[in-house]
Amino acid sequence: MSTEQPNKDFKRYLVTAALPYANGPVHIGHLAGCYIPADIYVRYLRAQKRDVKFIGGSDEHGVPITIRAMKEGVTPQQVVDKYHAQIKSSFEQVGISFDIYSRTSNKTHHETAAAFFKKLYDDGLFEEKETEQYYDEKANTFLADRYIIGTCPVCGNPNAYGDQCEKCGSTLSPEQLINPRSALSDAPLVKKKTKHWYFPLQNYEPWLKEWLIEGHKEWKNNVYGQCKSWLDNGLQSRAMTRDSNWGIKVPLPDAEGKVLYVWFDAPIGYISATKELTENWADYWCKDDTKLVHFIGKDNIVFHCIIFPSMLKAHGNFVLPENVPANEFLNIEGDKVSTSRNWAVWVDEYVKDFPGCEDVLRYVLCANAPETKDNDFTWKDFQDRSKGELTDKFGNLVNRTMVLMHKLCGGKVPPFHNELIEDVDKELIEDIGATKVKVENLIEDFKFRDALFEIIMLSDRGNKYMQKKEPWIVAKQLAENPDAQRNIDNTLHLCLQLTANLAILINPFLPTTAKKMLHMMKVVDKMLDWENAGSVKLLSVGYTLRAPELLFRKIEDAEIAAQIEKLKNGLVKPAASEPQEAPAQQQPASTTDQQPGTGNLKPVIVYDDFAKIDLRVGKITAAEKVEKADKLLKLTIDLGFETRTIVSGIALHFKPEDIVGKQVTVVANLAPRKMRGIESNGMILMAEDASGKLHFINPEDAVDAGAEVS
Ligand code: MF3
Ligand code: ZN
Repeated sequence: MSTEQPNKDFKRYLVTAALPYANGPVHIGHLAGCYIPADIYVRYLRAQKRDVKFIGGSDEHGVPITIRAMKEGVTPQQVVDKYHAQIKSSFEQVGISFDIYSRTSNKTHHETAAAFFKKLYDDGLFEEKETEQYYDEKANTFLADRYIIGTCPVCGNPNAYGDQCEKCGSTLSPEQLINPRSALSDAPLVKKKTKHWYFPLQNYEPWLKEWLIEGHKEWKNNVYGQCKSWLDNGLQSRAMTRDSNWGIKVPLPDAEGKVLYVWFDAPIGYISATKELTENWADYWCKDDTKLVHFIGKDNIVFHCIIFPSMLKAHGNFVLPENVPANEFLNIEGDKVSTSRNWAVWVDEYVKDFPGCEDVLRYVLCANAPETKDNDFTWKDFQDRSKGELTDKFGNLVNRTMVLMHKLCGGKVPPFHNELIEDVDKELIEDIGATKVKVENLIEDFKFRDALFEIIMLSDRGNKYMQKKEPWIVAKQLAENPDAQRNIDNTLHLCLQLTANLAILINPFLPTTAKKMLHMMKVVDKMLDWENAGSVKLLSVGYTLRAPELLFRKIEDAEIAAQIEKLKNGLVKPAASEPQEAPAQQQPASTTDQQPGTGNLKPVIVYDDFAKIDLRVGKITAAEKVEKADKLLKLTIDLGFETRTIVSGIALHFKPEDIVGKQVTVVANLAPRKMRGIESNGMILMAEDASGKLHFINPEDAVDAGAEVS
């Protein structure tokens, strides 16, 4: 069942969650991406009484911090002090239970990272290279690719970035930009010689193939696939130092003004933080019966699966990650999260807007986690799941059980009368045991969504059981039926034991809810030990329980509307030339590694630009597949005043026969273009949702073909 190595072989666990840049608050995408899954895993391991340390902290170096400082007109130290405190408190408020939440600007970390670098240097593992890089003479600084702007050589966009053109999507290097200038000062740039220390990743390729490609086929597909493609494309030397005065000074005599590359120092932060946490840190980092697991988002995969392991291997004496269960991204209301556009749900604001509802957020973010692909968070779905799953299934079972036990069993755990046991009772008892095993296997396999689903479904089967047994109806037969009370006892006895089990199972996911349940059952924390799950002897017969309290409150329509409003009102359109948030993969200027797109808005246009486009409503009158082109459909479109042929890349999404008769929006004045020998005259507009599904853009009611859209 589980593809993981059995956990029994490991004596201790070291679980890390990516160190967020202390350059802004955290949003729910961060939580869903790695902090909630990591926290579930750790809470589960603790409940299993395994030896586990959960490491977190702020990533306080690198370009993102210096840029933020420049924007806010403060020092980098002020930036990290502010956001470190804010992020730390957000995590606490949603129950992320780090054993330590450290920071990379502290002394232990500076020493640890510098010593790590020095060891690799002394062992002759770096290449020293002098290259020419762009320098901003006004701001007195070398610039990271993202902060160099110029004209795109491909499409002529005057505001392309040094790593990517957001208009045409081309991956660029700063050298390719025409008239490069600084995003910081707008000044033209000069080239300056600079020396750096490069880590020759290509030397680790054979080892990486063996360790990762051969040795870790059990890693999640999205992670394994990305690693494989990096290795298939071949690795290159990567600069491990930067010109900057913010960061960890390169510990060499001839390195004035140079600091360690942030992606060199940050992962070492996991080691430094463990050192601060415990004097036994070396047990966790150096003994190979430690299971090291890194929880991260997908933009961090290469750093945690390729670069950091190669560094650890080069250094020697350290364990390597046993798994890196990275999640994909969480979009918000159908659009990519963008901190610069303020398209995000901020954790500190959620906590203020929904006090006491931390578990609802944890629930929704786990139930809808982007475990295998990007997913979408919507406020409507938040409300629906909160009601339909949490309240109506889980909460309902617990509440009914408690209420009926008070009403029909005098507020005490009733006995179970074996002589009256029925098949439905036996089934429920078995179900409880089986679900425990399923949840356990799923968690150890990092399938938290499925695990959570199993628990909710168990609670729902509890509801069905209750519905079948109908103790409230049986209660009306007390006078004439001598078995009635014993029958009621049995039902509520089992429902109470189920409730106790649900508390144990839900605890890693919704710790506050589990606590509330303990309180109602008047039992101590100890009951939540995982080994107790599966048993139907958790609550002793005759034990008095407290009055029920509701586990989840209702989320009102008005609250949802207010959140959507807040998102839309908060939306900021950045000026065209302002760099948007830098992708996590800051690269040295000399490499051309792929950057993920940021999904941000295109630069602002004036009305006249828009008015050049002639948009019309058309009607599809015929559609057929284009031979030897999987993706293309040849469409015949009635535009009222004429009939056109348009070739459209939608064949994987629609069957030709299903779309004949549909209205579509057509870009009617697009220059003709030949595709597979067919001349296409125009283009039809489609909307793509977060799942990649396409939708036609058409008028709500039928309108005449040829109608203008403006
Ligand atoms: N700060 C990085 C980001 O937000 C993550 C750093 S993870 C670590 O993308 F391994 F480097 F610590
Ligand atoms: Zn371009």
